[in-house]
Amino acid sequence: MKHKTLCFGFFFIFLAYYIYIPIPENVEEPWKVRIIDAGMKISSLTATWLENMGLMKFEEFFGILMGIQDTKAVSDENITVIDTDFNDIPVRLYLPKRESERKRPAVIYIHGGAFILGSFKMLPYDSMNRWTANKLDAVVIAPDYRLAPQYLFPAALEDCVLVTKFFLQDKVLAKYRVDPTRICISGDSSGGTLAATVTQLLQDDPEYKNKIRAQTLLYPGLQALDTLMPSFREYEHGPFLTRKVAIKMTCLYLSEDKELPKTILRNAHVPKESRHLFKFVNWSDFLPEKYKKNHVYTEPVLGKLSASHPGLVDSRVSPLLVNDSQLQKLPLTYILTCEHDILRDDGLIYVTRLRNVGVTFTHDHIEDGIHGAVSFATAPFHLQLGQRLIDKYIIWLKENL
Ligand SMILES: *[C@@H]1O[C@H](CO)[C@@H](O)[C@H](O)[C@H]1NC(C)=O
Ligand SMILES: *[C@@H]1O[C@H](CO)[C@@H](O)[C@H](O)[C@H]1NC(C)=O
Ligand SMILES: *[C@@H]1O[C@H](CO)[C@@H](O)[C@H](O)[C@H]1NC(C)=O
Repeated sequence: MKHKTLCFGFFFIFLAYYIYIPIPENVEEPWKVRIIDAGMKISSLTATWLENMGLMKFEEFFGILMGIQDTKAVSDENITVIDTDFNDIPVRLYLPKRESERKRPAVIYIHGGAFILGSFKMLPYDSMNRWTANKLDAVVIAPDYRLAPQYLFPAALEDCVLVTKFFLQDKVLAKYRVDPTRICISGDSSGGTLAATVTQLLQDDPEYKNKIRAQTLLYPGLQALDTLMPSFREYEHGPFLTRKVAIKMTCLYLSEDKELPKTILRNAHVPKESRHLFKFVNWSDFLPEKYKKNHVYTEPVLGKLSASHPGLVDSRVSPLLVNDSQLQKLPLTYILTCEHDILRDDGLIYVTRLRNVGVTFTHDHIEDGIHGAVSFATAPFHLQLGQRLIDKYIIWLKENL
């Protein structure tokens, strides 16, 4: 309780200061976005300060802030909501109540939060999953995978794979009356990374090959090799997600090494032995001209990577690090990118590479979009942008799943 009061105290003191940071001109509801952006900057500052004081860990502070939004499994007139577990991993299930002649589609939704935060319990995710279940007449499965830094890479991924494999069993699909040809894996931000990776891994697994009809990725992170792509430079300071915070949080997933964030900030974290991987994420080759502007491609500095964080050059952290023949196996894909987002170019590069190998996809680029928008579609923000993105995602699913 004392910690909570302290946290909120700091939060409001800094709010007044940060609220005046400029945000992109075309952003809708600028005051709400300012508050979200300032809130994030203050939270990071406070979390860092509390950690340096030895009062609590960086991620614990964020955990408290985000925990405020937790909901219980509450059924409504249309959907039965149940908290249970699949293979001992907690999941929240959304089961439509109305009678249906046909078997239903299903969506596995992996929440974002930089691998260290978040839960299916959070109001934005609970609402989004409920809407999906209702509008699509679909079964929705939301896993609460293990979070870093308590559980490092690949724990989160392993849990998502286990949940997916559990669900894909014939007897489980039959129990929930799910059509095995209409299953989709979705996720936002780091959840998009996990969704893309799970999809990729299952396509390589003879037992599960072709069992996923589609993947939907909302502003996903798709590579950790080059943190100075044009979007990382242009949106280094946000809105909402800054380069520094994104790097700090991702490092917590990959390693206990406290020096790693500094090395990645210098873009000098890829070892000589892995230099051949740059070709998969070379923005000079894959980014449409429009986004290159006057940026000049420079190859990241080659560093020395210790054996303690091999995840950095692993395609299970950076789904872009696979060759074209592997990429070609991917199912139907929906990908949404936001203009004002450091991760924009990850998505744009993925789009070019999917197009090059002939994977069928839909790409929505949101010119006034900011990272994390779907997490602000509910109270207290009710960001219209967030609702717009969720509607696009659900409409696509309705037409394609
Ligand atoms: C239940 O579904 C109906 C029809 O789609 C909708 O109008 C209503 O708002 C839904 N109720 C809830 C609680 O979502
Ligand atoms: C990246 O692409 C540019 C342009 O095609 C090329 O000149 C450069 O050698 C490439 N670098 C790497 C590391 O792939
Ligand atoms: C692509 O990568 C896979 C897995 O690493 C490998 O088996 C395959 O030979 C590679 N294909 C090409 C064309 O390089």
